[in-house]
Amino acid sequence: MAASKRVALVTGGTRGIGRAVTERLAASGIRVAAAYARDVDAAEQVREVCQQNGGTVTLHRGDLGDPASCGTLVDNVLEQHGSLDYLVNNAGMVIEQHYGDITADDWHRHLSVNLSSAFFLTQVALTHMTEQRFGRIVNIGSVTGLMGSPVQIPYGAAKAGLIGLTRSTARAVARKGITVNCVIPGSFDTQLAQELTYTNRELITSMIPLGRWGRPEELAHAVVFLLDDLASYITGAVLTVDGGMSMGG
Ligand SMILES: NC(=O)c1ccc[n+]([C@@H]2O[C@H](COP(=O)([O-])OP(=O)(O)OC[C@H]3O[C@@H](n4cnc5c(N)ncnc54)[C@H](OP(=O)(O)O)[C@@H]3O)[C@@H](O)[C@H]2O)c1
Repeated sequence: MAASKRVALVTGGTRGIGRAVTERLAASGIRVAAAYARDVDAAEQVREVCQQNGGTVTLHRGDLGDPASCGTLVDNVLEQHGSLDYLVNNAGMVIEQHYGDITADDWHRHLSVNLSSAFFLTQVALTHMTEQRFGRIVNIGSVTGLMGSPVQIPYGAAKAGLIGLTRSTARAVARKGITVNCVIPGSFDTQLAQELTYTNRELITSMIPLGRWGRPEELAHAVVFLLDDLASYITGAVLTVDGGMSMGG
């Protein structure tokens, strides 16, 4: 199938980094199913912008912290578009908390939205991708999963888990025409970053060798690179897009 006829599911594809991925894919003719949870205005806006530029975007609302919603989402995408070729597991959330303030619900919520949703979506998507012997899956991690954060404990655990999920899934489907990779953002100026309670922006900037925060389109570029037909020999890779932050020092 020509790359431009393909269908992408981008979770959290309506704001921030996911929106940049949606716009970039839609601009190249790929039909995009953009999933989101609550912000209807943001969702309508990205659909409109993409349509004005000749792209096709369908919107899918649901809480991906619920495994049943993950199955329903993939079914809806297949029903509306007839195919699913690219899965970008990007939806994420973080609430900054100190150790003693984290409840069992906080722990489970961070794991279900940031990690389990990627597993459940992948599990359902693989049925279709295996049948067609083609698929590209990109999981969006976080530098917190590599470097840790004293106020993002469950989030850091979930994002580190995504690396293990990426590599194990990559091995499981390696002979089926499906690649699975992980892109790790550093600091990007999105709503998620703006709502962080304890993080000190200046301190973060001082930790970035390139000396600035990233732009969502710079992250989208890495995702699109991994979705490309010629990325067929890349699987199980973990690609940091963080201005050098995770090099440490
Ligand atoms: N920004 C950064 O500096 C940074 C750094 C490292 C990693 N990341 C990762 O990059 C990804 C995108 O982050 P972002 O900064 O672009 O975040 P964002 O601007 O807050 O956007 C988050 C997107 O995810 C959706 N979402 C959140 N919870 C959901 C749920 N339970 N079910 C379905 N959709 C849900 C949101 O939908 P609604 O609009 O409806 O809420 C929104 O579309 C996340 O995985 C994040 O962890 C970001």
